[in-house]
Amino acid sequence: KDIDALIETLETQHDINKEGLVTLLALENPSKLYQAADRVRKKYVGDEVHLRGLIEFSNYCSNTCFYCGLRGPNRTIKRYRMEPEEIIQCAKYGASAGLKTIVLQSGEDKYFKITTLCKIVEEIKKMDMAVTLSIGELSTKDYAELKKAGADRYLLRIETTNKELYQKLHPGMSYENRVRCLIDLRELGYEVGTGSLIGLPGQTLEMLAKDLMFFKKIDADMLGMGPFIPCENTPLENEKGGDVETVLKMMALARLLMPDINMPATTALGVKDKLGYIKGLQCGANVIMPNIGIDEYKKLYKLYPGKVPDNPSETVNSLENIKKLILSQNRTIGKDKGYRKKY
Ligand code: 5AD
Repeated sequence: KDIDALIETLETQHDINKEGLVTLLALENPSKLYQAADRVRKKYVGDEVHLRGLIEFSNYCSNTCFYCGLRGPNRTIKRYRMEPEEIIQCAKYGASAGLKTIVLQSGEDKYFKITTLCKIVEEIKKMDMAVTLSIGELSTKDYAELKKAGADRYLLRIETTNKELYQKLHPGMSYENRVRCLIDLRELGYEVGTGSLIGLPGQTLEMLAKDLMFFKKIDADMLGMGPFIPCENTPLENEKGGDVETVLKMMALARLLMPDINMPATTALGVKDKLGYIKGLQCGANVIMPNIGIDEYKKLYKLYPGKVPDNPSETVNSLENIKKLILSQNRTIGKDKGYRKKY
């Protein structure tokens, strides 16, 4: 029927209009959509799952995003900053465990000077790993310096492409500046990752369809999408969160539209659903980002609740468990740095 035809066009042409996207996002039984995404994933990026070792090096943040537990005004969480030496040690552990990419993530913490960050990037690059940064909005010049120091990739989610919703959720920030950052990063030669939060209050399927069209338009190399999970002590603490099925549909559609991108099964997906990583891997994902930071800090990096159980090293997110999970899905572990292989 109509739906089958839509999915087939997407699978062969990797293109569809907004109405088609909305129709597919509204599917009650998306299993054919998921299967198509899984075939396209296998055909374009293969069975390898790339591991990106995540180090959350500071939870200080000067922003006030309504959904996020690390927002500056949240005085109920204990703040920490890792020492450069600690960050390097974690990266070394990652290298010794066979990881080929380190992701350095933090709140927007003005304390770290760009020169300090550049030195950290340079040290990690000496270990023959790719470096991804996820440290928010910076000036063009700062992005350029970090690139020169050796940073390869940058993650900056647009969160939502609906300007009105964006402004509502990000007081003091601007949608235009966020897009400016993404364009700068692209022009400077970074591999660029973006993505959205799914299930934000007021977000519609039409908005999500437009998010997907935006990702394709800017030719994102990487795409991270997860459910919004309401977090205590934030303005959205009493809202309803995003649902896993919508996230999976977004991932499947993203894979069909952009067959060769790198797309993680996100931590939030894994938190919201015990089987989140597995479901993500079956709906187009080819990346997982195990947390290789220090346990005492992991529990303080509370973007949303449930992120870290009492004993972090025993969670589904530990490196060993993730490797087992990947193999159990008849997938393999990526051996190289896992850059986007543009087709
Ligand atoms: N639920 C899910 N994801 C969240 N993020 C921030 N707060 C939440 C939340 N409450 C995501 C944002 C940000 C990324 C680092 O974490 O999308 O870009």
